[in-house]
Amino acid sequence: MAGLIERYRERLPFAAGDPVVSLGEGSTPLVPAPALSERVGAEVLLKLEGLNPTGSFKDRGMTCAVSAAVREGSEAIVCASTGNTAASAAAYAARAGLRCAVIVPEGKIASGKLAQALMHGARVIALRANFDVALALVRRLVAEHPIALVNSVNEFRMHGQRTAAWEIVDELGHELDALAIPVGNAGNITAYWRGFREVLARENRPRMLGFQAAGAAPLVHGAPVAQPETVASAIRIGNPARWEDAMDAVTSSGGAINAVSDEQILAAYRFLAGREGIFCEPASAASVAGLLAHGADGARRVVCVLTGHGLKDPQTALAQVDDAVIPCAPELAELEKAVLA
Ligand code: F0G
Repeated sequence: MAGLIERYRERLPFAAGDPVVSLGEGSTPLVPAPALSERVGAEVLLKLEGLNPTGSFKDRGMTCAVSAAVREGSEAIVCASTGNTAASAAAYAARAGLRCAVIVPEGKIASGKLAQALMHGARVIALRANFDVALALVRRLVAEHPIALVNSVNEFRMHGQRTAAWEIVDELGHELDALAIPVGNAGNITAYWRGFREVLARENRPRMLGFQAAGAAPLVHGAPVAQPETVASAIRIGNPARWEDAMDAVTSSGGAINAVSDEQILAAYRFLAGREGIFCEPASAASVAGLLAHGADGARRVVCVLTGHGLKDPQTALAQVDDAVIPCAPELAELEKAVLA
């Protein structure tokens, strides 16, 4: 499958002949979720963004941000990240032959994401602070040095991430009432709304239902959170960079922004894995937790964006299922006992 710059080139700011740094991102499946649909009382489809090359939706924006950086002659890229942006930036930088530095909150990123960033050869800097502080510092850093910033404040990230909305419309037309999506730095909800606005008439646009973790819900409270906390480390963000854009998406679409507790997030995470056969990371499960807790707001058909793969965060998964592994001696009788008990 072609990467998304190739798939949507006529709607993206890339001309034929421009450098394209792609890992075959995008074109992710939209999978029905029968068990979830029954519980929510609406038809729910899951957009599996964890099937992008580095396991999260960030690759959509990164193919554009890194291709643009190469076109501009940049030699290095940098980002602040709760993990997935770091993994994606590292991979696309490796592919493009650029240097890459990622600034992450110390001890607060999932191990799969750390492994990815390191394997792709990025310089990984563990800041003794949270994501919000990291992003503020990195913005100052790029003001002083010729390094391309690939956080979602970079407009090319938004260009790329809009393609997910286009894919949904390519598949469903306007037969979609609402989009449920986790919100952290608020880039993705902003990009989806821009994407829908571009291809759907006003009356056909879905309502944007954003969900934040209760301990990191500045948009719900209407004020920054100084010390955000949640098990969903990807969205442990207290002062989203795309604050106004996200609120505009919610308001103009007639949607809502709500909070879900860590317990609700983890219950949704287990439900998806155990009942739908779909393993996403905890932050992604926030959108499902939101639908389960707050309902579909009268929507008949909802797309729920599962932003990252469950394998990103094996620790949180294993903590849900401790002592579930059954040891067994290599004897048939023992195996029978173990299997059939
Ligand atoms: N889901 C996952 C798995 C994420 O990694 C993120 C953000 C979000 C949802 C929220 O998206 O920030 O556009 O509102 N992760 C960023 C990162 C912050 O650094 O990887 P958003």
